[in-house]
Amino acid sequence: MNVLIVASEMEPFAKTGGLADVIGVLPKRLSNLGLDVRVVIPLYREAERNLKRLGFKVQTIRNKEIIVPIDWIAHKGKIKETKIDGVTVYFLINEEFYDRDYIYGTPTGDYSDNDIRFGFLSLGALEIAKAVNFQPDIIHCNDWQTALVPISLKWKKHYHDDPYFANTKVVYTIHNIAYQGLYEQNLIEKFGLPSHLYNMHGLEFYGEVNLMKGGIISSDLVTTVSSRYAEEIKTPEYGYWLDGVLRSISNQNKLVGIMNGLDYDVWDPEKDNTICMKYSPENLDGKIMNKMKLRKHLGFKSKENKPLIGIVSRLADQKGIDLVVDFLDQILDLDVELVILGTGDKNYENILTDDMNQYGNRFSAIIGYNDKKARAIYAGCDMFLMPSRFEPCGLGQLMALKYGTIPIVRGTGGLLDSIVDYKRNAELGNGFVFHEFDGKEMIRAIENAISVYNNHSEWIQLVKKAMTENFSWKKASEIYHTHYKRLQGLS
Ligand code: ADP
Ligand code: GLC
Repeated sequence: MNVLIVASEMEPFAKTGGLADVIGVLPKRLSNLGLDVRVVIPLYREAERNLKRLGFKVQTIRNKEIIVPIDWIAHKGKIKETKIDGVTVYFLINEEFYDRDYIYGTPTGDYSDNDIRFGFLSLGALEIAKAVNFQPDIIHCNDWQTALVPISLKWKKHYHDDPYFANTKVVYTIHNIAYQGLYEQNLIEKFGLPSHLYNMHGLEFYGEVNLMKGGIISSDLVTTVSSRYAEEIKTPEYGYWLDGVLRSISNQNKLVGIMNGLDYDVWDPEKDNTICMKYSPENLDGKIMNKMKLRKHLGFKSKENKPLIGIVSRLADQKGIDLVVDFLDQILDLDVELVILGTGDKNYENILTDDMNQYGNRFSAIIGYNDKKARAIYAGCDMFLMPSRFEPCGLGQLMALKYGTIPIVRGTGGLLDSIVDYKRNAELGNGFVFHEFDGKEMIRAIENAISVYNNHSEWIQLVKKAMTENFSWKKASEIYHTHYKRLQGLS
């Protein structure tokens, strides 16, 4: 079976969050199941740099320029190809669109031509499939940036009538319903789509065009990244005004939740070359060393063994950073140390930097994006805080578990599907969960964690349990495979 995966991020080439982690591993796991899997992503400046840095062998596909007409302009793209663990990755080259400092936008806002940049990616992926003669049985798209794949296959005459794609089915994965790709009505015309699509049963959405909505209604199957989130997005509270559309496709049995896994080839304290000392559930000495090193690096001077809480996160409202900011005094009153690594919303960046100056030797805010520091936090902290307002899946808590850093999470989406509250269920518990999005509840959950931390042997048992939890991709990749086969009428 031929599977073409189209995405706007992929580890280890270009990453802003968990989408990159997923696209970095799912294709490999599908390929292990015997599928021919290829990925298309843009050749961002960051991707070009990482290809060089990591020493990938890259081949330029000669004489295969693709052309995508958008708004009466013929945009041209070239293709580079590399292989990673048996998976072919095609990089779509267009310097004007992708040779920029950032993936989606500068710190002051999104690039204003993202509709064209990602429309070019979507249609470019279809053109690449043809240019390299890879006829896909399944095209697996991800988030609004790739929605113009299913939309065009269904509605754009040029592709709809193309026998090359006659048997192609589209799976569309929602990683985050909050980002929808909203554009003006003229997007329909720019991409040569029929004008009747600007209709409430089509792409129209409160006076704009909504690409996420288009992706949802035009695909053969819609998936999202945890079972809980698949239920949540059908409610007004979590659906971001698309709950009605999602209820409707769910009634047609076209919506499923498949919990992401974690790539244990790259996230494992026994194999991680970036941390100061490797460790395992059988020998936790390395974890103690990692904590010492991290505290030294942060300038935390206390001689007592206080619980060290870590956060690694985009600084966005989604992540509940406001709870941390508003309750910082109360958190630090619990006699803990706290480190935050994150980047995003300027407002949070500024507040956290100011707070750091105030609480210097017990609180550290590292503003920026840095994989090595993230790993130092997963390895060196005792607890990992994720007070998310909503969380489609969340990979941070899975990384924390593997590194024996006990998650304290708000019970929502994938956090609720992966973390069981130890206070309520000591046998299955692997973390601490609070339910209301409320600072006092968060503080109570941290207190619960501290009370177990203070009983050393009980805490070590919990750490070992966390480290042996299994969120590998094996199960999830098999579920995707089953759906691909069903869509192809093979089972
Ligand atoms: P989301 O995709 O919503 O940001 P996830 O928990 O699914 O949340 O994934 C976040 C990913 O991004 C994880 O791999 C996490 O380690 C990484 N990450 C987030 N912020 C940073 C940062 N500032 N520096 C390094 N890695 C980060
Ligand atoms: C999104 C979600 C996150 C999820 C990731 C990968 O970024 O916010 O919860 O883990 O996608 O699916």
